[in-house]
Amino acid sequence: MVFETWGLDAMNNYNVVLIGAGNIGSRHLQGLAKVKFPLNITVIDPFEQSLKVAEERFNQIKPTAKHSINFNLDIKNVPDQTDLAIIATSSNIRRSVTEELIKNSKVKNIILEKLLFQKKSDFQFIEKLLHKNKIKTWVNCSMRVTPFYQNLKPIFKNKRIVYLLTGTKFGIATQAIHFIDHMAYLLNDYNFEIDTSDLDKKILDSKRQGFKELTGTMNIKFKNGSTGVFSDFQSGDAPIIAQIISDETIATANETTREVFISKSPDWNMQPSKDPLLFQSDMTNSVTEEILKTGKCNLPTYSESAQVHLKLLEELLKFLNSNSEKKYDYYPFT
Ligand SMILES: NC(=O)c1ccc[n+]([C@@H]2O[C@H](COP(=O)([O-])OP(=O)(O)OC[C@H]3O[C@@H](n4cnc5c(N)ncnc54)[C@H](O)[C@@H]3O)[C@@H](O)[C@H]2O)c1
Repeated sequence: MVFETWGLDAMNNYNVVLIGAGNIGSRHLQGLAKVKFPLNITVIDPFEQSLKVAEERFNQIKPTAKHSINFNLDIKNVPDQTDLAIIATSSNIRRSVTEELIKNSKVKNIILEKLLFQKKSDFQFIEKLLHKNKIKTWVNCSMRVTPFYQNLKPIFKNKRIVYLLTGTKFGIATQAIHFIDHMAYLLNDYNFEIDTSDLDKKILDSKRQGFKELTGTMNIKFKNGSTGVFSDFQSGDAPIIAQIISDETIATANETTREVFISKSPDWNMQPSKDPLLFQSDMTNSVTEEILKTGKCNLPTYSESAQVHLKLLEELLKFLNSNSEKKYDYYPFT
């Protein structure tokens, strides 16, 4: 589709700000490059090397519109008005970076990366700040905008499901939020209980420096009897596989090989699905277009996601403090 009505002159292009241009930030940037109408993109990261890699990755994409882009080390150089900001730093500085952005720019829409923040008090603080400044905010739990996972919603409507997630060292602390969010989305229910008693007692250092990671098994229970079993092996090389099972359907996604299958009653043959899994660089474009065009998108809202985050993070913090010598008063995860 060509957005002809968006053929505004460069002065009126939408201002999009990306804060944090690391692994995931640079993939968001590739997505922005694919947006079908022109953007003024500002990328902020205090580490030159991150900006350099992000620029290389941006240039790998053949743009479909004439974007302008500038790379900047200092958040004070954001434009006065921001139509959309994507905040893709680690969790430990997300609150301060969000505050800084709002201090320096009048912001309309924000996408925050998960995990949101490291302190319970940050969740309420930022909620109030967003509300006061009338900023629409979503959290990048992107299974809801991934065609394969999104299209399971009508299939599992009103069903009791069993949701299995297995793999080696995918990281329960970092990754569980995506799959709990997906369960909440499928079941339309944000009231669940988490049982951490089968997590491995050995706490690991995360591959991201300064953060912790957890393996083992976590169980999640929803009101309609649906259960999630997320099991992360510390050894071996098991692929990351999500399997969602009801009395009529089995949906399987191999996140490692990126194969997807559906098996349905009455024949139960495993059929490859035509709905793909997408990389971030193929999702940020459509989410951005939708937010700028309609003010809406299918990602979880800030308040939905804050609820899911806090339930998970509070349980993980309890588990951590009963199994480590050091006692934490924050969530050391990202
Ligand atoms: N939604 C997803 O699917 C997904 C996938 C991967 C990572 N993530 C999340 O995204 C976050 C970032 O992960 P990553 O792997 O990209 O980390 P990363 O370390 O590669 O990137 C973080 C970037 O933030 C920059 N940064 C540090 N201080 C900054 C500041 N004050 N202002 C602006 N930028 C600053 C760093 O220089 C770095 O480039 C983590 O919380 C992670 O859990 C989400």
